[in-house]
Amino acid sequence: MFHGRLLLCLSLFSLLHRGIFAASDKNFEADVIYKFVNVQYIWINDVLKHKTIDDGCYIAENNIITGIKVYKDQIYVTVPRWRHGVPATLNRIVPNEGENPLLEPFPSWGANKIGDCKAFQYVQSMEIDPDTGYMWVIDTGRVNTSTAFPRNLCPPKLVILDLERNNTMVRVYEFPDHVVSHTTNFMNDIVLDYVDGEARFAYITDTSDAKLYVYDYDRNISFFYQHSSMQSVTLISPTQNGLLSAPIDGIAISPDFRIVYYSALSALPLYAIPTEVLRKNGSDFGNKVQIVGNKTGGCDGLAFGQKHIFYAALEYDALYMGTIENGVLSYQKPLLINNTTAVWIDTLAFNGTDLWFVANALPSFFKNNMNFTDEEANMNIWRVRVGEAGYLQDARSRTIVNAKSLIMPSIVLVIVLCLLSAGSNVTL
Ligand SMILES: *[C@@H]1O[C@H](CO)[C@@H](O)[C@H](O)[C@H]1NC(C)=O
Ligand SMILES: *[C@@H]1O[C@H](CO)[C@@H](O)[C@H](O)[C@H]1NC(C)=O
Ligand SMILES: *[C@@H]1O[C@H](CO)[C@@H](O)[C@H](O)[C@H]1NC(C)=O
Ligand SMILES: *[C@@H]1O[C@H](CO)[C@@H](O)[C@H](O)[C@H]1NC(C)=O
Ligand SMILES: *[C@@H]1O[C@H](CO)[C@@H](O)[C@H](O)[C@H]1NC(C)=O
Ligand SMILES: *[C@@H]1O[C@H](CO)[C@@H](O)[C@H](O)[C@H]1NC(C)=O
Ligand SMILES: *[C@@H]1O[C@H](CO)[C@@H](O)[C@H](O)[C@H]1NC(C)=O
Ligand SMILES: *[C@@H]1O[C@H](CO)[C@@H](O)[C@H](O)[C@H]1NC(C)=O
Ligand SMILES: *[C@@H]1O[C@H](CO)[C@@H](O)[C@H](O)[C@H]1NC(C)=O
Repeated sequence: MFHGRLLLCLSLFSLLHRGIFAASDKNFEADVIYKFVNVQYIWINDVLKHKTIDDGCYIAENNIITGIKVYKDQIYVTVPRWRHGVPATLNRIVPNEGENPLLEPFPSWGANKIGDCKAFQYVQSMEIDPDTGYMWVIDTGRVNTSTAFPRNLCPPKLVILDLERNNTMVRVYEFPDHVVSHTTNFMNDIVLDYVDGEARFAYITDTSDAKLYVYDYDRNISFFYQHSSMQSVTLISPTQNGLLSAPIDGIAISPDFRIVYYSALSALPLYAIPTEVLRKNGSDFGNKVQIVGNKTGGCDGLAFGQKHIFYAALEYDALYMGTIENGVLSYQKPLLINNTTAVWIDTLAFNGTDLWFVANALPSFFKNNMNFTDEEANMNIWRVRVGEAGYLQDARSRTIVNAKSLIMPSIVLVIVLCLLSAGSNVTL
């Protein structure tokens, strides 16, 4: 025990000495927490279950878990409506005693109803703000998007649910067609930008139209940026899985909310754009965007902690951690590599100082060679004890322009003024 503490102190000492790189010498505890052979739901009753299956509204092999966010003891996951037969797109996981875990539609079955524009049509991602318990959900408004006949049923929207107050809707914003196309969009990932103690902006990637959207919560408006850096670049993959070619996908923001990082899915370069630029409409994006460096591989999700950026190297079935110093991706280290349980690391999520992710072997799903009856898991949900919190942790207190910080200078000013006026009285 003592020995352990000593070691801890010593390593802490060397950590301080060698700066943030030292953390990378550590091996992080990483575990598969949930395994899914296929996606099964909790049904209201057996009659509804059988009716849904008979109607073709639940087709197990068309369901795959992609998005994930964790808040308190709940794990929220998304199931894209790329194909027909996905009964609910936003869900939470219900553990099932060693069996395949189940999904429960979130916040309800009704909120996932196809064709009801008050409900979610196809949600790829959401973000949960640990400071407020708000879940920011992006809905493309479209279904059957990977089939020959996509259905553009509803306008794309951003919905904010208050998880602390019975999932009440705090905000619903429909994107106008001239910002987010109602017929071609694939709103994929979202990060939040804090200004003065408030989640003021959301930045959203579009992996179909290659755009970066900005939503301004205070003004309840949206606009977008487009740039060549958002286009896809095809990589030659060394794995049998191949790599899907797609434009801008992963997005992350530094914990000081100064820089947004993004990458096309099938590309190595990581780009940086200051939030100062993004927050204003019509900024000179092209002259402000910078390349930070090449990642080790193509990546889907990106996430910033309090110190490091985390991402997958899809070709290598690996999760990486990187350091960005002075605008350069200066250090990259694999945290885990596993060609059976970490194939296609999709979305990343923080909970406290744990990093969670979904690995779903997506290329096999798209090639229809996933075996949903085998005992082998097709989707794995991992938890990695990275030891640093996510970019949103304590964002409120970290960004608030503190009224208290003005009190001392004010007191000093008053005293000085009093002395001055007292002084001038004396001379009078
Ligand atoms: C998330 O982290 C909190 C502590 O920060 C913990 O109480 C909770 O159990 C974690 N959730 C999961 C699903 O592990
Ligand atoms: C989606 O496509 C399937 C056929 O693949 C079709 O049966 C279904 O009606 C379509 N969904 C909608 C909402 O049109
Ligand atoms: C929470 O919401 C559900 C569904 O909307 C409702 O049935 C329930 O009564 C609500 N609970 C509270 C405490 O408001
Ligand atoms: C925000 O804009 C949407 C338009 O989609 C509107 O329906 C909603 O009422 C607005 N909300 C606020 C708080 O202004
Ligand atoms: C953003 O700027 C573009 C032109 O650069 C303009 O067409 C659009 O209306 C602006 N949007 C908002 C919400 O001001
Ligand atoms: C980054 O990768 C691209 C190919 O995607 C390559 O052309 C470029 O030389 C690389 N840059 C660096 C600094 O390695
Ligand atoms: C891959 O992950 C599984 C589950 O954690 C583990 O049993 C297996 O040993 C790992 N394989 C390698 C090569 O690390
Ligand atoms: C998976 O990795 C192991 C070593 O960890 C290797 O022996 C095996 O050939 C790999 N399998 C595939 C399909 O790449
Ligand atoms: C799927 O796995 C099962 C059980 O291992 C096997 O019987 C079946 O042939 C497999 N199907 C395909 C298409 O590989």
